[in-house]
Amino acid sequence: MTVCGILVAAGRGERFGGLKHAALLRDRPLWEWGRDALLHGGVSRVVLVGDLPGGVPGGVRRRDSVRAGLEALPRTASHVLVHDAARPLATPDLVRRVIDRLLAGGVDAVVPVVAVRDTLKRVGDGWVVHTVDRGDLAAAQTPQGFKVAVLRAAHGHDDDDAGDDAVLVERMGGSVATVEGEASNLKITYPGDLALAEAWLP
Ligand code: CTP
Ligand code: MG
Repeated sequence: MTVCGILVAAGRGERFGGLKHAALLRDRPLWEWGRDALLHGGVSRVVLVGDLPGGVPGGVRRRDSVRAGLEALPRTASHVLVHDAARPLATPDLVRRVIDRLLAGGVDAVVPVVAVRDTLKRVGDGWVVHTVDRGDLAAAQTPQGFKVAVLRAAHGHDDDDAGDDAVLVERMGGSVATVEGEASNLKITYPGDLALAEAWLP
C-alpha cells in the first residue's frame, strides 16, 4: 500500500482577490502548510498542482487540477489523499485519521466532516421557504482519501463540475466513509480568513 497526496493550489482566487497559494501564514506560503501536514501525517509523496516549485500545471476547474495531479501520480500509488492548498490548518492527526480509515478496508473514499453549527434555511427572493433539519447534515473538508483506481474511474465517469472529489465517487455508486474533521480546518476563501487562520494557531 502506497499512499500519496495531491495538493491542489491552482485556481484564480477570485473571492480572495488574487492567487492565494502563495499568501503567507506565519511567514510560510499556504501551500507549504498543506504539503507538510500530508507528509507528517504519513503520505509518502505529494504531487503539487499549480504554479509552484515542482508543481504540475493546474486546470480551469478544481476537478481539472485534481485530474492533472492524478496523471502525475507515481504508478506505485494505491491510495491518494486530495487536499486543498487553501486549507493550511489541517493537522497530521487528521491526515492519519483519513489514511487509517481508508486502509481499514471496505471503503472507496473517506471524507472528513464537521457538524453544521448554524440553523439552515432554504431561502428565495427574500423569504424563508423551509427550515432544513440539520440532524444528518455535515460540512465536508479536505483531505479526502481515495483508492487511486476508484478516483481515476470517477473522473472518467462524468464531467459535470463538482463541489468536491468524493461526490464523483458517490455519483458512481462508490462507498464514501466519514471521519471527524476539524473545526479549525477552515478554507481560506476571503482575505479576512487569513486573520482567522492566524487566530487558530497556537
Ligand atoms: N483549485 C485548483 N484549480 C482550480 C480551482 C481551484 O487547484 N482551477 C484549488 C485552489 O488552489 C484551492 C482549492 O482548489 O486550494 C479550493 O478552491 P477555491 O478555494 O475555490 O480556490 P479558487 O478557485 O482559487 O478561489 P475562487 O473560487 O474564489 O476563485
Ligand atoms: Mg474556486
